Amino acid sequence: MIEPDIIKDAEIEVLLKDIADVYDYDFTQYSKASLKRRLNRICIIDKFTSFAELRYRLINDASYLQRFIEEITVNVTEMFRDPLFYKALRTDILPSLGTYPFIRIWIAGCSTGEEAYSIAILLKEIGLYNQALIYATDINPGVLEKAAKGIFAAGPMRQYAENYILSGGSKDLSVYYISQYDHVRFHSDLKSKIIFSTHNLVSDASFNEFQLILCRNVLIYFDKDLQNRVFKLFDDSLQPLGYLALGAKETIRFSHLEHKYRQWNGEKIWKKISWES
Ligand SMILES: C[S@@+](CC[C@H](N)C(=O)[O-])C[C@H]1O[C@@H](n2cnc3c(N)ncnc32)[C@H](O)[C@@H]1O
Repeated sequence: MIEPDIIKDAEIEVLLKDIADVYDYDFTQYSKASLKRRLNRICIIDKFTSFAELRYRLINDASYLQRFIEEITVNVTEMFRDPLFYKALRTDILPSLGTYPFIRIWIAGCSTGEEAYSIAILLKEIGLYNQALIYATDINPGVLEKAAKGIFAAGPMRQYAENYILSGGSKDLSVYYISQYDHVRFHSDLKSKIIFSTHNLVSDASFNEFQLILCRNVLIYFDKDLQNRVFKLFDDSLQPLGYLALGAKETIRFSHLEHKYRQWNGEKIWKKISWES
């Protein structure tokens, strides 16, 4: 497919600098290839025929910013994504946290919440739900609103049910929701231990200490420098011997913090083994 080319490379830099100056949202260290695709997509959907039109709208209409953030960020997610990763959480990582009186988990870049509900289900099934608290954060308030409702399209549920079984689940996933026409509503007790909140990994500080941080399929959209800054934020937020989980295409290898972490069993999970600053 031929990609539309309304926005040129140099114009991307100009636009990102404008946004950083006017709104305090800094996308300058996001990967340019993905940004360019998303910006051209916005031009098509919102019918901007030139870079100047998009720039004018963004600078002069603050209410357009949220829509822009929604379009510029990739929100694709699913339940029990990479089932073997969830199996490792179920059988080893989460049970090893069971000795803490209180388990704090941070899901950074949680999108519409499918990951948070998956973790809540795991915690329930291994009997650790009541001592856990899940902070699920994202830069995009729109996806968090959807996450907090716990209502998902019915279409992908079959796939999620398969993922759940492959991750070691032994029930029918439908015990956790009720079906309503073309969507499903997860039982509200699943979200009683989840706090959904905005947090920008680029500009916001650490806000607690966690035993487990999941940030999956977010760092692939950041350049190396920004990835290193975010790893530092996670390191500051992770308790000694805590775990950091990343997405299938992400790694802490080659980062400034590689020496402080040991990979767990070839999974995309790293244990913090050194806490020197
Ligand atoms: C592809 S989704 C990943 C969702 C989920 N973690 C998963 O693996 O299925 C990426 C998410 O990162 C969020 N994101 C992008 N930039 C961010 C930032 N600076 N701070 C926090 N979240 C961000 C996006 O809004 C989006 O919801």
